[in-house]
Amino acid sequence: MSDTRAKTLTTAAADAVREAAGDAFVAPRLGLVLGSGLGGLADSVEHATAIPYADLPGFPVGSVVGHAGRLVLGTLEGTPVVVLQGRAHLYEGIPASDLAVPTRTVRALGAETLVLTNAAGSLNPEAGPGELMALNDHINLMGANPLMGPNDDAIGPRFVGLGDAYDLDLRTALHAAAEAEGIDLHEGVYLAVAGPSFETPAEIRAFKVLGADAVGMSTVPEVLVARHCGLRVAAVSAITNLAEGLGAEVLTHEHTLQNAARAAEKLQRVLRRFVKDLA
Ligand code: HPA
Repeated sequence: MSDTRAKTLTTAAADAVREAAGDAFVAPRLGLVLGSGLGGLADSVEHATAIPYADLPGFPVGSVVGHAGRLVLGTLEGTPVVVLQGRAHLYEGIPASDLAVPTRTVRALGAETLVLTNAAGSLNPEAGPGELMALNDHINLMGANPLMGPNDDAIGPRFVGLGDAYDLDLRTALHAAAEAEGIDLHEGVYLAVAGPSFETPAEIRAFKVLGADAVGMSTVPEVLVARHCGLRVAAVSAITNLAEGLGAEVLTHEHTLQNAARAAEKLQRVLRRFVKDLA
């Protein structure tokens, strides 16, 4: 681990992961969060130790279809990784502060970088269903922040700067990986809502004015916690639909999962190449 902050950041869940892996434990360089319908990459992890979230102390357990809910430690393209296959969401009634645990566990295990993925609606008609979008910034309209409450100075500062939340070097590496794979990678601003309802057409028109390129119900809590504890962050949205009012389709979660599968194969190729180039 590179600094004292990661050393002091012990979580019961990280201890449980070390114990489960036993002699096979290798500190991950990278954490990878796989969102709705995007969990397939976890199956490519070699030398894997897989642990259901329910067995990890403090881990919020989500209940959404399309989320496996397990942590997988191992190697991907030769790089030690910890993969979080599925995530819990605010809309499940999980307190924002509980959402901090998985990200802090990734840091406590020794990772320095966190790569987040999600399924999102697009406000940019050129980035339609099945396309990928690297995030370069966010707008938090969730009405919540997992860092609210007493601050533990051993983990990170009370007030966290977000000017460079989405790491430029990592984003450049994502674009290079996408180009090497011949895959279009759009770039834009992610606007986070609490959900679980999809947006109204009027909300989407307003979000467009605010500067949003994609809209979704996750990721921002993890970015906030990651930046607080010193993880570098990259994030990619798999676009599953044009946002409400911009396309003809009726938005449903089933539809989200179906279209996530279209983007998932491309996302896996980009991420494998990204991880390989990182080594
Ligand atoms: N809105 C919010 N969250 C989403 C969407 C959307 O259109 N698509 C996938 N997740």
